[in-house]
Amino acid sequence: ITSSSGSPVDDITNSLTVGPRGPMLAQDLTFFDESRHFDRERIPERVVHAKGAGAFGVFEVTNDITQYTKADVFSKIGKTTQILVRFSTVSGEKGSSDLDRDVRGFAIKFYTRDGNWDLVGNDVPIFAVRDPLIFFSFTRSQKRNPATNLKDPNMAWDFFTRRPETLHHILRVYSDAGTPKSFRYINGFGINTFKLVNAQGNATYCKFHYQTDQGIRNFTNEEAMKIKAENPDYLTEDLYNAIAEKNYPSWTFYIQVMSLAQAEQSGFNPFDATKFWPENEYPLIKVGKFILNENPKNFFALIEQAAFAPSNLVPGIEASPDKILQGRLFSYVDTQFYRLGTNHRQLPVNYPHATKVYNTQRDGIFTYYQDDAPNYYPSSFGILRESPRGRISFFEACGVVRR
Ligand code: HEM
Repeated sequence: ITSSSGSPVDDITNSLTVGPRGPMLAQDLTFFDESRHFDRERIPERVVHAKGAGAFGVFEVTNDITQYTKADVFSKIGKTTQILVRFSTVSGEKGSSDLDRDVRGFAIKFYTRDGNWDLVGNDVPIFAVRDPLIFFSFTRSQKRNPATNLKDPNMAWDFFTRRPETLHHILRVYSDAGTPKSFRYINGFGINTFKLVNAQGNATYCKFHYQTDQGIRNFTNEEAMKIKAENPDYLTEDLYNAIAEKNYPSWTFYIQVMSLAQAEQSGFNPFDATKFWPENEYPLIKVGKFILNENPKNFFALIEQAAFAPSNLVPGIEASPDKILQGRLFSYVDTQFYRLGTNHRQLPVNYPHATKVYNTQRDGIFTYYQDDAPNYYPSSFGILRESPRGRISFFEACGVVRR
């Protein structure tokens, strides 16, 4: 054992006292070292999706979609990319039960050679509301009543019934799909509409789906209530044990595509996150598979500190006019600055694993992976240069501005 500055510690169970009864001495450096760290061990939990579990794995391309996208992760059949997945419930706190009736988050970080791509999805194909401005009320109606500090069904149902667009979402959550038997038995959906762009600069709208190879299995309400009373961490334990026993779960990855012309003529708004694209009109196109085969060595370092953000996009995968997506592009990194700090993207779990960051950002608390000079651009020194690969596809935007 050493102190946190690395010097040997001879005794970590007895404080330094004057005689056996004390008092303690102000020079008990071992006690202060332990106490000061303990006093700061909690950080803000995620404002939503606070309770979760995660694992590392590998994504492999099985089918060619380079006609749609130049994204490095899809660049050739057989190509593999390291991934991190975090599953979660949405409205409960960090100590809440995995078995609570809820949507399950299913976020994937792909460590690609063009930087990290985060596909931050859920286990339902649609979202509850179609405007990000109302997301905050939607979420708060399912959090605790500020007067009683109790979960309050009146708040939640008041909101749901006043916003009928939530109906599809609510029907799914209040079916057995709201209490899955395992994170291994759920599908995932990127939900939002994205834009794929190929090497020639041609764009197509797209949705992402990932289907469990284990099959879908859910608990009934009675089963979930019983297990919840005995083991609120049931799904976390199930995922960890399956991977520890080398019973690796896997998913098959698909896209749906819609041309820009089809989007113009579509009878429904393809950028409305409360709608899914009918699979008979926009069939699933198989792309690849992913497997989860490595438990995190330290949950806090690698899962609690993991920062998934829909704004982590890469060349070949861009935003669409989807309003919910546009709102999400701001929110995640903003809350992560608050939750994890200015330089949270330098933490090993968030730093790109397959490339290096080159930019002019410097300093801030806990600076680690940062270059020295130059810290400005343009510059006559150093190796910084802009990269045409990062250029987004051109598009026109016009219309009347109003809420
Ligand atoms: C299609 C709609 C949405 C989906 C699928 C979704 C999904 C998720 C998932 C899976 C997470 C957990 C990520 C993790 O495991 O760390 C998450 C976190 C979060 N979401 Fe969403 N979300 C949606 C809409 C929104 C909207 C509209 C907002 C706000 C404008 C929002 C704000 C947040 C915030 C602040 C977090 C916490 C992030 C953190 O602290 O790391 N989400 N969301």
